[in-house]
Amino acid sequence: MSENYLLQMQGIDKIFPGVHALDHVDLNVRPGTVHSLMGENGAGKSTLMKVLIGMYQPDGGTITFDGRQVTIPDTATGLGMGISMIHQELSPVPEMSVAENIWLGREPRGAMGLISRSRMKKSTQELFDRWEIRIDPTRPMKELSIAQTQMVEIAKAISFDSKLIIMDEPTSAITETEVAHLHRMIGQLKESGTAIIYITHKMDEVFKISDDITVFRDGKHVASLPAAELDRDKLITLMVGRELTQMFPKLEAEIGEVILRVEGLNRGNLVKDVSFELRRGEILGFAGLMGAGRTEVLETLFGVFKAESGTITIDGKPVTINQPKDAIAAGMGLLTEDRKLTGIMGVLSVRDNMIMAALPKYSPNGFLNRKRIDADCQVQREALALKTPSLSQLIQNLSGGNQQKVLISRWLLTLPDILMIDEPTRGIDVGAKSEIHRLMSLLAQQGKAIIMVSSEMPEVLGMSDRIVVMHEGSVSGIIDRSEATQERIMQLATGPDAAAA
Ligand SMILES: Nc1ncnc2c1ncn2[C@@H]1O[C@H](COP(=O)(O)OP(=O)(O)OP(=O)(O)O)[C@@H](O)[C@H]1O
Ligand SMILES: [Mg+2]
Repeated sequence: MSENYLLQMQGIDKIFPGVHALDHVDLNVRPGTVHSLMGENGAGKSTLMKVLIGMYQPDGGTITFDGRQVTIPDTATGLGMGISMIHQELSPVPEMSVAENIWLGREPRGAMGLISRSRMKKSTQELFDRWEIRIDPTRPMKELSIAQTQMVEIAKAISFDSKLIIMDEPTSAITETEVAHLHRMIGQLKESGTAIIYITHKMDEVFKISDDITVFRDGKHVASLPAAELDRDKLITLMVGRELTQMFPKLEAEIGEVILRVEGLNRGNLVKDVSFELRRGEILGFAGLMGAGRTEVLETLFGVFKAESGTITIDGKPVTINQPKDAIAAGMGLLTEDRKLTGIMGVLSVRDNMIMAALPKYSPNGFLNRKRIDADCQVQREALALKTPSLSQLIQNLSGGNQQKVLISRWLLTLPDILMIDEPTRGIDVGAKSEIHRLMSLLAQQGKAIIMVSSEMPEVLGMSDRIVVMHEGSVSGIIDRSEATQERIMQLATGPDAAAA
């Protein structure tokens, strides 16, 4: 039997202080197949993969790879055996070029053992040509968008010619076009016999690419089945241990008066003459392709970058926003899409990360009201079903999805009138996703206004009252919920000309 498998992990245990992350977990992967790992945030998916690549040492269990029982003391050994991984939290070296990032630690060398930049560049170009990736190898990583960074990480993982490639949420930061590209790459890798372990929270994606699916819950193995024997509902039930009736629980909210009016907002080529209105009780979706300028609109409104021209009116009064502080004072909150760079403070606790933006509220007379902080954080912890042994846990020890939940709490605690959320449920499991959507709905019912940038079409269609579609920095259309369809949005997103045709 075992000769049918490239990888067999048996009875793997992993214990962190206060967390039994993996409890006797099994995983069997066939060569040349895509095996998806599914499970809620904190189920143990990333941890099992870190054990497999040698980043963590298991507290028990055996690993058989390519016919031999192995121990993998470090990641170099893992790579040497033919196991590479695309990590959920990307960590490129921003100052280095694309090529340098790809060959880091194994740079091609020329005469006298010196690193050969030209060979490095050439190898990268060959790699990119082969996989149809259009990024200049000499560009510094810090200039790339998240999506481009993700594509570089994918190329890097593939460049090791591994027998097994682990992809931990590789599509959480890229749009449909790149997702399709990655899926084509995976198809080719499979044909050449490479096995892929794939982790995603996107349901439609799982069924598109998986041969086999393994489900974990709370660090335990729940089931392993051929994808063909599962459907969406069955899979969700296995993941969350109960049936999930409503995917987008949008509640009726009374749409009130205009709270935010934006007119002629401009910032370079990124934001061009953007105008729209936002009403109390409204969820305004922002749709568009990667690079359409949606994130830039939010950043400009929030004062992360200064607008060159345009007016912002809140509750009928013109406001000047030069920095985020001004925006917060005007009643705005921004949840950014990139939690690693602008979101979490890894070495601080969950509690400190939660209260960061609301700090003035908790020290009215210069003293921190710790009782109130704890009480409020506890409410958030329960409302979002946050998985952490305590509020004092360092946030960097939380699973990716749970870090995202902490960031959402951060802005909920500031009680903003206008909450701007960039990709609210990126990396969030199905159960928590509907929790977050329900929360957004409740906030709208309380008269708050929400701007939501999302690349997930079902989320945009399911949650928005109106949808602003952007194309190359401009608004190409604003559609009412009742008229919104995927086709209409895609038309507008690909440009006004296409829409008119
Ligand atoms: N270095 C660590 N120290 C302490 N606890 C950790 C550490 N890494 C992970 N954990 C805990 O182990 C559990 C499993 O986390 P893991 O990251 O494997 O989840 P996951 O299934 O990948 O979730 P997600 O879908 O959110 O990425 C979580 O409760 C997490 O908080
Ligand atoms: Mg994970």
